Amino acid sequence: MRQWQEELLQWYDINARAYPWRTTKDPYKIWLSEIIMQQTRTQQGQPYYERFVEKFPTVNALANATEDQVLKLWQGLGYYSRARNLHHTAKKIAFEQGGVFPTTYKELRTLKGIGDYTASAIASICYNLPHAVVDGNVFRVLARCFGIALPIDTTAGFNYFKKKASDLLQGYPPGAFNQALMDFGAQLCTPKQPQCANCPFQKNCVAFTTQSITQFPVKAKKTAVRKRYFHYLVMQGPKNTTALEQRTEKGIWQQLYQFPLLECSTAAVPSVTALQTAAAPFAKGVGRPKQTSTVPVLHKLSHQHLFIYFWTIPVETILRDTVSINTLEDFAVPVVLENFIKKYF
Ligand code: ADE
Repeated sequence: MRQWQEELLQWYDINARAYPWRTTKDPYKIWLSEIIMQQTRTQQGQPYYERFVEKFPTVNALANATEDQVLKLWQGLGYYSRARNLHHTAKKIAFEQGGVFPTTYKELRTLKGIGDYTASAIASICYNLPHAVVDGNVFRVLARCFGIALPIDTTAGFNYFKKKASDLLQGYPPGAFNQALMDFGAQLCTPKQPQCANCPFQKNCVAFTTQSITQFPVKAKKTAVRKRYFHYLVMQGPKNTTALEQRTEKGIWQQLYQFPLLECSTAAVPSVTALQTAAAPFAKGVGRPKQTSTVPVLHKLSHQHLFIYFWTIPVETILRDTVSINTLEDFAVPVVLENFIKKYF
């Protein structure tokens, strides 16, 4: 029988997806693609990658952008701290390291936003160094194929998978091996309804032969989901103005713009007084708030479910964070707000 690795690489030879970042070894572009793909599936990520490369073809170009420009281009991918780290590290490489990317795993790891996964991906794809990547796809393929029941969300579990992937990779082309494993997980050994009938490992796959595909990979903790209730105050000031503040606190959507927000801890509808009090720092002559819909927009994040409501409020004067409604689309805002703005203005 052929080696497991040979089987995988042969599968990849035939089935590798053609992506624009597969034709380059430019570490800037590989870094960019890997950071984007951590946020979304490759199909959805590709247009983002293309827009970034077009607007910022080099690390120096990205370093010279403003943070707002980077956030605007990232808009819709979520987890905006990734975009801020990307920008931070671009500036470091451009302004402190002469625009030259580090060429070892260890040096790559010292950069903000570059963890084990990204450093391994860049080191293997760009420099042919034998560092195994471990992402969700890799966990799933190895767990099922080799029947690894260690939980993937523990340090011991992670270390085991990392070692298993590293052992398998030795002696094979690192970039191709890593990408083959990820592609195999993304295309064939998918979370739901994997295509076991077409799988070269079917006969020896532990999960398949024991009919326990849905039980791999194993997780130790069930993630707790926090419910949050957001009430956005869309102020209607004179001459088509409204208020748009920048979120500064840590957590979701940091540095993105939003209408002034009243966050409530329960699903209860806030009182008129509560809404007007929340609006008061932003405007004078605050009128009666009107809910645009009693049905919230539900926005699901990995650990939070946001229930989002919008209220329009006529006001006499906007006191701060005044913007013209015509320019709303220029601001980097969370996608739920972008959708609201498109629909309402
Ligand atoms: N997902 C994220 N990065 C990938 C890559 N380089 N190849 C295949 N799938 C990926």
